[in-house]
Amino acid sequence: MSTFTWPTAGISYGGDYNPEQWPRPVWDEDVALMREAGVTLVSVGIFSWALLEPREDEYDFGWLDDVLDLLHRNGIAVDLGTPTASPPAWFYDAYPDSRVVTRDGTALGFGSRGMVSPSSVEYRAAATRIASALAERYATHPAVVLWHVHNEYGAPVGEDFSAQSVAAFREWLRGRYGSLDALNAAWGTAFWGQHYREWAHVGAPAATASTPNPAQQLDFARFTDHQLRACFIAERDAIRAHATQPITTNFMAHQSWNTDLWQWAREVDLVSDDHYLWSPDPEAHVALALSADLTRSVARGKPWVLMEHSTSAVNWQGHNIAKRPGEMHRNALTHLGRGADGILFFQWRASRSGAEKFHSAMLPHAGTGSRVFREVVELGHRIGALAEVAGSRVRADVAVLYDWESLWAQELEWRPSDALGFRERMRTYYERLWRDGVTVDFAHPEDDLSGYRLVVAPASYLVTAAAGKNLTDYVAQGGTLLVSCFAGVVDEHDAVHAGGFGAPLRDVLGTAVEEFLPVRAADVTTVDLDGTAIPTGVWAEQLVLDGAQVRGVYRGGPADGAAAITRNGHGTGTGWYVSTALGVEALAPVLAQVYADAGITPSGRPEGLEVVTRHGAEHDYLVAVNHRDEDVDLEVTGTELFSGEEAGGSYRIGGGGVAVFRTPVGGDH
Ligand code: GLA
Repeated sequence: MSTFTWPTAGISYGGDYNPEQWPRPVWDEDVALMREAGVTLVSVGIFSWALLEPREDEYDFGWLDDVLDLLHRNGIAVDLGTPTASPPAWFYDAYPDSRVVTRDGTALGFGSRGMVSPSSVEYRAAATRIASALAERYATHPAVVLWHVHNEYGAPVGEDFSAQSVAAFREWLRGRYGSLDALNAAWGTAFWGQHYREWAHVGAPAATASTPNPAQQLDFARFTDHQLRACFIAERDAIRAHATQPITTNFMAHQSWNTDLWQWAREVDLVSDDHYLWSPDPEAHVALALSADLTRSVARGKPWVLMEHSTSAVNWQGHNIAKRPGEMHRNALTHLGRGADGILFFQWRASRSGAEKFHSAMLPHAGTGSRVFREVVELGHRIGALAEVAGSRVRADVAVLYDWESLWAQELEWRPSDALGFRERMRTYYERLWRDGVTVDFAHPEDDLSGYRLVVAPASYLVTAAAGKNLTDYVAQGGTLLVSCFAGVVDEHDAVHAGGFGAPLRDVLGTAVEEFLPVRAADVTTVDLDGTAIPTGVWAEQLVLDGAQVRGVYRGGPADGAAAITRNGHGTGTGWYVSTALGVEALAPVLAQVYADAGITPSGRPEGLEVVTRHGAEHDYLVAVNHRDEDVDLEVTGTELFSGEEAGGSYRIGGGGVAVFRTPVGGDH
């Protein structure tokens, strides 16, 4: 049992600390500077397997004892890693069959980092052994307040086509389907003569002449997620046998591919997440907000830890853009505003050697005289001033549906158009809501949605019968549902629904889809919404109306003159369908009508002034981030916690600045 308390007092602040890369005297300087920066929590040992277990079953914990003691003497708590994301050379040498094999048959070797096969029996044994040895030794070490299992499960590799993995996949399929008849039916193997007559013939969807069976691929994605999670659970339970501190593993919310975080979040004591800005995106802070909301949502609203972000540039994108002055503060405060009670970075001190020497750090190569270090120290002091915010919760009236199974299915090959992506649609709808100042939760399509005024489904390609019923009941009981194109197309086996495209949503939307009509780039297409032409493109659909009112009509393109946007009364609620891929601007007038149905009032604040409220027992806290270059005035009454100033109705936030206000309970959100 975990005796759960938050790892540190107030909001935790710190980062990954890799002292093994530095001579001992540097450690003393590190902890002195950490204190100067207000660091309260560091993650240690994440990549230390080769040092901790230099030979199989021989351990050397002496250096780690020293590090933990030193940190503890200086009042810095430790999130202790299990080093299983990077097995040592001896492991690869002893167990070559544990290597990950890629889809095209290449076995991945030693000399980088990354997982070996999550299905390897030898890996599972070695990983749980080192986790157990660490837990036994440090269960009662006063510095250790949190366990950090592994690192970013599923990255840099998750899928494995080795012989061990294929055998495990077969076993997993036997458990799922029971019989080959059931498997053949689920995978639709009558197509292209793919019938299986022997379990021994069933394999992973490795390199094939043409595209592999999509249902098999979808199951392989589920299996990969399951195997990775089984590795986590094995380590977690090995730790729990000795230790009572909470246990986490760092997710990558919106950037995760191999992990269904709705399921993972149930297995951890506290949710933690890593997030990095995507350099080519000039509005990357919107994706950051999305990621933070998604993380809070998989945590079911509980406070979470931002386990990693960067102080400035990363090094692993093509063209790595450095953060500009103040940007790190805005990023950190956005995470905090959206529910993070821990703000940590990768990493404390920039590495001189190795693949990440050009990655920014809290203490950069330029040292303590640098802008980045000054901002790190300032942020530490600011975080220190926000202790009372810890534990407060974000509330939302709007849920956005997010389902990793639908992501896996939608991104398979041979779709009507690859211009229509899960993440692109998710981002576009989220950005519209973000610009309107509407705070959202994310939800699984089979969740209880009754607490939300509005449910938005930007990318619900895969909708199970249960999800279809859930959404239909939600609207029948008064909810407002907004569904974007290419929705409800397939079931859990990636098979088109009997009844056609959109069948599980037909009742609630009052429409179904006769044909998908991807649009040629040269075809100028608009939607006529109440006499205004809103631009669209890429995608159109030929709808079959079944009770819905037409709200928008295609002008130009393959569906010229036909219904594009519909609204349907169902029970006491309303179902909207947008059959085309509208952009952020084009969505504005549509959302305005949907908000009116749902009783949602956009914030009315200037675009780029991001404000989220965290609700506490005694106070509310307004976290404000100004992404604009110019000053803005925020309507607010309360105390600004960084300056101590009283805001009596209005407060000016400088261009690019941040502010946090203690306000009376019951303010807006
Ligand atoms: C990931 C890893 C870290 C580090 C950073 C660099 O999130 O967990 O070890 O490699 O990326 O951005």
